[in-house]
Amino acid sequence: MRRLCKLVLSLQTLFLAGCASLQSTTNTHGPAARSIHHLSLAMSIVFLITVFVMWALLAIALKKRRGSLQEHMPIDIGGGQAWVVIGGLIVPLLVLSVFFFVGLELLSDFPIHGMHEGMNMNPGASVPKPDILIVGHQWWWEVHYLTGDSDQQFTTANEIHIPAHRAVNIELESADVMHSFWVPSLHGKVDLVPGHPNFIRIEASEPGDFIGQCAEYCGVQHANMHILVVAQEPAAFDEWLANQRKPGVQPTSPQALMGQQAFLAGPCAKCHVIRGTLAGGRVAPDLTHIGSRKYIAANSFPNNNAYLEAWITNAQSLKPGAKMPDITQYNGVQLRALVAYLRQLQ
Ligand code: CUA
Repeated sequence: MRRLCKLVLSLQTLFLAGCASLQSTTNTHGPAARSIHHLSLAMSIVFLITVFVMWALLAIALKKRRGSLQEHMPIDIGGGQAWVVIGGLIVPLLVLSVFFFVGLELLSDFPIHGMHEGMNMNPGASVPKPDILIVGHQWWWEVHYLTGDSDQQFTTANEIHIPAHRAVNIELESADVMHSFWVPSLHGKVDLVPGHPNFIRIEASEPGDFIGQCAEYCGVQHANMHILVVAQEPAAFDEWLANQRKPGVQPTSPQALMGQQAFLAGPCAKCHVIRGTLAGGRVAPDLTHIGSRKYIAANSFPNNNAYLEAWITNAQSLKPGAKMPDITQYNGVQLRALVAYLRQLQ
């Protein structure tokens, strides 16, 4: 049985090799992902056994098929019905019933938000207050941290920090079309449906970076709508939280100061927020702590000087169709100052 498990695992790995280095349903780091993985593993093993038995019976039947028609007994003479009952009724009933109830049990990992208690089809799943609200946009993730008083709440984008070893309740909404939140190492997929809030509860069993992906086709840059979940030890997470609650760092160097002026006077401030400044546009990602993020453009490119400059001046070549226009009004000095300002927004 152990060998069979290993065989199925290596086959699964083989099929998923294309994305195994980044995201894999077999590389689980949370209880919900583990339950899903175990169920799919069990289903794969039962499927392999069933197929093996089926082919073995077929091979036996083919081997037995010898002689003329007269030598064989007519089919209506009886016998063989037991095979039909066992193989066609009892075995499928047993297998499908077991998977049905195991699948029902798995539903407790999918709490239903917004349902009244009497309507809750799944009593195992309570309806908690969300810690985080994620709003899907074409083609990035807006992330609202809802814990604490209103002055402690803040908004960020694309990089979702959570404390490890603790369940985090997330409400999922969409600002435009359907998206789907999927971080395979932590959980299954839950859709973001316009006008219908959904809910997911994720838990990371250890600290680490977990990559995910929008899993519902949502337009031309669907494939570049990546998710990064950063699970941290609770103390480190609290530190991150405290820093994110602060307004954007005021620049001190002359270059970063020049960059801030360029940001506020130019088109950037019309779409992006930097808390603590007059930049208050709400249609694009919040940049208050952009310097602390690992990637830009919904985790599509590393957050460094080169990519930031390229993104500002030529977003349409990096991510064609994105709502970020090519900003070509800055000269080289202004552009480098702008990037220096953004990078110090830690
Ligand atoms: Cu958002 Cu696909």
